[in-house]
Formats: sequence, C-alpha cells, structure tokens
Amino acid sequence: MCGVVGILLKTGNAVPDVIEGLSRLEYRGYDSAGVLTINNQNFQKVRAVGKLESLKNELRSAPLSGAIAIGHTRWATHGGVTIDNAHPHESGRVAIVHNGIIENHRYLKKLVQDQGYQCTTDTDTEVIAHLIDYYLRLGNEHHIAVQKTLNQLEGTFSIVAVFKDRPSLMIGARHGSPLAFSVSEHGSFIASDAIALSLWSNHVCYLEDKDMIIIDDHKVVVLDEHGQPIERPFKNISHLNLHSDKLGYSHYMLKEIFEQPQVVHDTFSSLLNDDESDIKLDARLESILMSAKRIKIVACGTSYYAGLLCQYWMEAYGHMGVDVEIASEFRYRQPYLGDTDLAILISQSGETIDTLASLDLLKSQNIPTLGIVNVLESSLMRRSDFYIQTLAGTEVSVASTKAFSAQITVLLALVFKKIEPSDRELKIKKFLNIPKHMNCVLDQFDDIMKLCNPLIQSKDVIYMARGMNTPIAFEGALKLKELSYINAQGYPAGELKHGPIALIDESLYAVVIAPSNDCLPKTLSNVQEILARGGKVILVTDHHSKIDSINPYPQHIYRLPDCDAIFQPFLTVMIMQMLAFGVANLKGQDVDQPRNLAKSVTVE
Ligand code: M6R
Repeated sequence: MCGVVGILLKTGNAVPDVIEGLSRLEYRGYDSAGVLTINNQNFQKVRAVGKLESLKNELRSAPLSGAIAIGHTRWATHGGVTIDNAHPHESGRVAIVHNGIIENHRYLKKLVQDQGYQCTTDTDTEVIAHLIDYYLRLGNEHHIAVQKTLNQLEGTFSIVAVFKDRPSLMIGARHGSPLAFSVSEHGSFIASDAIALSLWSNHVCYLEDKDMIIIDDHKVVVLDEHGQPIERPFKNISHLNLHSDKLGYSHYMLKEIFEQPQVVHDTFSSLLNDDESDIKLDARLESILMSAKRIKIVACGTSYYAGLLCQYWMEAYGHMGVDVEIASEFRYRQPYLGDTDLAILISQSGETIDTLASLDLLKSQNIPTLGIVNVLESSLMRRSDFYIQTLAGTEVSVASTKAFSAQITVLLALVFKKIEPSDRELKIKKFLNIPKHMNCVLDQFDDIMKLCNPLIQSKDVIYMARGMNTPIAFEGALKLKELSYINAQGYPAGELKHGPIALIDESLYAVVIAPSNDCLPKTLSNVQEILARGGKVILVTDHHSKIDSINPYPQHIYRLPDCDAIFQPFLTVMIMQMLAFGVANLKGQDVDQPRNLAKSVTVE
C-alpha cells in the first residue's frame, strides 16, 4: 500500500518532482518516505520516518540533486517504521522502490544470503534488490536481471529500479499492484497512479499485469508477460479530479462531510434522464438488472457497509435477493454463484486488492460485473464489464465520508430502477430534495459537536440500530475506531441480549439510531436496558418518536429533520461521521491521516 515514483529528466533535478509526486501518493501510506538519485555513478539517498513533511525537512538540510530519481512513501507491512526499513533499498549496482508484498521473501532471503549478501533490514523488499544485483553480477543485461528476479517473486508488487552504472536507465514492473507511466518533452515518469502522473502529462499509460517498462535514455519499451514488446494505449486524464485545498475548513474530512449534499445531488443527477422521471443506465446493464433475481455485492470496509444498506433497500423495495460479501472472505471461500445474475463491486479507490481479486473470480465464472467506483481510470473501472462513477470528487481524508454517500446514491438509483415506474417517479422527485435535508443536518454541526465531549473519555462505545440504519451503526463504529482509536462496535439492536449487554457499565456509551417506525418500541426497550445498567446513551431519533415516558431518560437526544424512512440513512450517516470527527478532533488526533491506515488497500 505504498506509493512509488520514478523520474528520468532530460535536464534538471528530478528530486523536487519526485517529492511532488509522492505528495499525491501519500494517501497510500505515510509512515516513512525516501528518495534516491544517482551522481557520478553513486547512489545518494535521504529517508525519514513520519509523513512526507519529515522527508522534506531532511532534504532542506541535505539537498539531493540528479536527473534520475526514485521515491517512496511507505505503509509498513514487513518490518517496523524505521529509517533502515524505509525505501529506497539498494544492493550493489541497483536501487529499488517497491509497493506490495513478497510472500516468499524468507526463502529468497536465505537464497541471497547463501550468495554472500547481507540482509540489513526487516523488509521483504530488500531481497529484490539483492537478487537483481546477483543476476547483474552473473553478467545479465539489466532488464534480464530484473526479469529473472521477477520470475522468482511470489505475491503482489510493483517496483521501479535504477542502476548506478546506467544512470539513464529506469525499469518498472507491475505484478498485481498498479503502475502507470507518462512521457513529456521534459522526461519520463513512472508512478503508482495517474494522480501523481497528472503533474507532468495529461496522457498516461496503465501497465497491464506482469508488464515491464524499460526507459532507456528516454526510449520507452513495454514488454508483456512473455517478454514481447507491446503497445499499451494512453488515456487522457485531463478530467481527473485533483487535490483541492481545504477551502477554509480545518480538515479535509470536515470539508468532505460538508460536500455531501452536492455530491449526492451530482451523482444522482448523472443517473437521471432528461426529464428526471427515470434512471438511465447502459442498455445492456439495464436489461441484466431488470431481469435479475439475485445479485451479489462485494466490497470492503465502508464500501461494504454501503452494500449492506443496499441489501435492505433492494429486498424491501426492489423485491430482489441480495447477498453482500466482504471481499477478502469472498475471494477465498469458493462461493456458490449459480443463482447470481449480476455482481456489484463497490470501491472508492477502485484499487482494493481483495475487491479486484473478487472481480477476477466473478469474471472467471462469467457473472456480469458492475463496478461502482469513485476514481476514474482505476483498475475496477477498467476491468468491470460495466461501471458507474460516483461523483464524489477526490476524497483526500483517509476516512471515507462523501464517497459512501455517493455510493449509496448510486445503489438507491439501482433500487429505484427495480420499482414500479409510477412509484419510481415519485421516489425520484422526493429524493431530489434529500440534499436540502442533508444541509439541515449540517446546519446543526455545533449541536452535534456538543455530543462529542462525553465520548472522549470512553474506552468502549457501542452503536446500535435496527433495519436500514443497522449498516449506518456499523459505519459509525468504524469511523469512530479509525479516527479516535476508541474501541467501537456496531450491533443490530436485537443482538444486545445475545452478548454485548455484558459490556455495559457506567463507563460505556451507546449511540442508538432509532427513528420512529414499527421497531421503535423494541429499540427503546434496548435503550432502557442500557440505561438501567448504568450505561449512557446518545439517541438519534426524529420529531415523531414518543420517548417522554421512558425512564431512565437518555443523556443526549438528537432529532433528525423529517424525511421518508427510505432516505434516512443519508442523514444518519452524516451524524455518525460528525461524531467521529468531533471526538477525534477533541482528542487531538490526526483526523485526515489516522495512524496505521492507508486510503488505498493494495495488499492483502
Ligand atoms: O477504496 P475502497 O472503497 O475499496 O476501500 C475500502 C476500505 O478500505 C475503506 O472503505 C476503509 O474502510 C476506509 N478507511 C473507511 O473509512
């Protein structure tokens, strides 16, 4: 889950460009970073633990310069967060940066040690450098040495390698982890994704799996998995959404929370026909969806919770069976797919490795696949049979907010498509008002922040709901965990007595989402059970629920603006996001880049 950059310039210093590229890739990992260049046939490198800012500080006191440079921003998999483990790693004539995991690194380590190499880091990466150097020493051409090394690696990876004896040669390779390149009049550029490459060109070429790219004195050759030269198409990326600034907000997350009404409006509008009476889809996708009896949704994390919500919606309103699967389980559990008519894969980044592996599995069984994806030209977008783009724009904060709202907007549109046309038109009309209701919730930001104070002392928080707010309770718990490092768990409220009730004492807080519906009395009983045992409750309900008679009374009550029950998750999720933001902010945590996380999970 690291970011790699390699640059070969015709003239000038590539190091500042590498750093700029890394800043676009920091979402992939930010525990350490490094850059390396070649001068007088010597490697020179600077590495630093911490965010890219630390590397920039180091470079201020020890500047680097060179026409060729590689850089890395790390999310540690093997070996702690130390300078020694930070990339680039070098051995003899070669230096590399690597994203991914080398699963057979222990075996390879023994192999290179037997050849006299000393392994000085705890990483799985170091063996790649030693192996390439080993094959160079045997007299192989540089690209052959790299190819022979790649043949021995198991796992998923992308690498960029440079050589001190050939300072105008840069070799990249992709095996599972994404890698793309671009060329301009100034030089040649390789990076983990297009968002970095867009700094230098509007046209990028995505390498296919097992491709190798050789940039030799600015001549570019791509070799396919059989070592044969191959032309890969260039894509125009001028329309890519680039990082915007915080626009006056204290944090990207806060900005992204506040962007949600617009995002929902834009995403939904992009799916409407001209007179806004129907949902427009690709004709072939529409025909598959309309005749489908059972769909499978596969995703991870927040995107998985979007899928769970779709299950409630689709089964209740679209009258179709929906199974929702966690991608990392789905891909390995030999799923039965005999009754699946359509598979939907949901991903903000479009690069989540387990979701992509699930896509491959589904495609191998000839199941039509629809990717719901935010990042344009991502692997999921390119590899799904159909895709719908969520128009959330670039989500910078590692914790997902607006991407979730955009995902559930697309999913709701698919549900609308499955309901009777007369009802569909009415629901579309009503949904067009939802951004207004979302703004009403945002207007109460200060009130919601007041609810955060009591939560910061908690060691455990449980989130509960019934029905279609249950996935929102799960999402609320995930957000709190990610941002504030408080242990939080989401439960269907009916599960309380089946175990979680044992957790309740005076130190426990419960966030309960219970709008007025048939289940309200049951959820209020759960609230009473928590309060009776000394636990404290933040109750999220609406103006119609009769709760005056309950005793003891919840410590905090938030009342939602009125809207149809089917649309409530758009409002309740924002309250969950704001709570998590507020608690983390009060605790002084790094809201936009929480510890140990990365925005794009490209390793298992
Ligand atoms: O890019 P994806 O939507 O595939 O990512 C899936 C999860 O990694 C992601 O939603 C993660 O759970 C977020 N950090 C949630 O805030």
